[in-house]
Amino acid sequence: MKNLKIDINNTLGFVNKEDIYALQPDIDKHHRALLEKTGKGNDFLGWIDLPSSINADVLNKIEADAKRISGIAEVFVVIGIGGSYLGARAVIDALSGAFGALQNEGKFPQIVYAGNNISEDYLVELLALLDKKEYAVAVISKSGTTTEPAIAFRLVKNHLEKKYGKTGARERIIAITDKAKGALKKLATNENYTTYDIPDDVGGRYSVLTPVGLLPIAVAGIDIKKLVAGAVAAEKEICNTSEIDKNPSALYAATRNILHRNGKQTEILANFQPYLQYFTEWWKQLYGESEGKENKGIFPAGVNFTTDLHSMGQYIQEGTRNIFETVISVEQSKKKLQIPADAENLDGLNFLAGKNIQEVNKMAEAGTQLAHVDGNVPNIKITIPQLNEESLGELIYFFEFACGLSGYLLGVNPFDQPGVEAYKNNMFALLDKPGFEQQSKILKERLK
Ligand code: PA5
Repeated sequence: MKNLKIDINNTLGFVNKEDIYALQPDIDKHHRALLEKTGKGNDFLGWIDLPSSINADVLNKIEADAKRISGIAEVFVVIGIGGSYLGARAVIDALSGAFGALQNEGKFPQIVYAGNNISEDYLVELLALLDKKEYAVAVISKSGTTTEPAIAFRLVKNHLEKKYGKTGARERIIAITDKAKGALKKLATNENYTTYDIPDDVGGRYSVLTPVGLLPIAVAGIDIKKLVAGAVAAEKEICNTSEIDKNPSALYAATRNILHRNGKQTEILANFQPYLQYFTEWWKQLYGESEGKENKGIFPAGVNFTTDLHSMGQYIQEGTRNIFETVISVEQSKKKLQIPADAENLDGLNFLAGKNIQEVNKMAEAGTQLAHVDGNVPNIKITIPQLNEESLGELIYFFEFACGLSGYLLGVNPFDQPGVEAYKNNMFALLDKPGFEQQSKILKERLK
């Protein structure tokens, strides 16, 4: 691929290359099942040709709405949870600068998030902030019925209407939801909000390249056309061949499954850039929700290095040996900064004087990889040249396709999430939602 490279050499002391390549017939079958939409969950495969089929008019409309919002809002509240939240945050945190609006001098709104928790304190603080700021909001929910975003939107809508009046509020709300179903769709139609549809055949965790992700990403000032272009490039290559040698998603899916079959229960996604923390959260959701079912799955964990070398680094080096590590390695920094010489050298760091910070970070990365391999942690390395829109687009599509293949290799349906209903039903019963009376009695008894 143009940007993304994958290297599995540091897994080969732990598993046999032949075993990985022996999965080729299975990979061929699953690649075909994905493209021909004949496998499990085949009504949720709209993400496969999504990048190349995104309508230019939709991208232009998103950009126009983003520009309009930038003109009226200092803060943009993105309300959503799970797949209706993590993709946007992953890309925004990766590409819009470490310090948000503090650093963009108000050129783009500060993005804040709501509806991704049920914390009273969080919501009180959010509303207090919104008292003082000009703001607009995107409410994002495919089902249109998810409790967390629905509660947050009820509060924010009330606040908006008090602050700007009903008509003013309407101009500041964008609803992104199902084209026909759900409470949010009904509300958006009744109130005449600007609305974007989420395709029926794209599940939440695969929806970052629909308006779910693209609208907030554009509001944050990121070039969505370049992001999509990166994903299109990946789609072309990954869909074109199932050969493990030529298709990085196939190689990743095959390698992690062989590691798993050889006793590695946990995969840790590591990065050496603080910008990628939420990319890892997005990846955790993608793999955790897709594969963790029927008592199967590789547990997806994440670490941010070098920060977490001072915490989880100990466990990775010497704890239970059931883990492997996948590192997202970013070759170049976008900005340059050298470590200065110091006449007194009291910190003893003059040996680093004149070196760029990235050079030090790269040596931390290389040293960590060697140490972890020595500590019996197999290592997959995924390299991108720089944190930019094209690379991120490739990385997103690479991981999505690999997840589909990997789920099929595990023998599960990677496109459903039946397990997330259990907590919801209990919560509704405990909150006395009409229709849950019987369950409510049983649960309250258990809690005594
Ligand atoms: O991946 C998924 O399907 C979930 O994480 C959902 O995105 C999440 O539960 C939010 O659902 P909704 O968009 O319907 O509010």
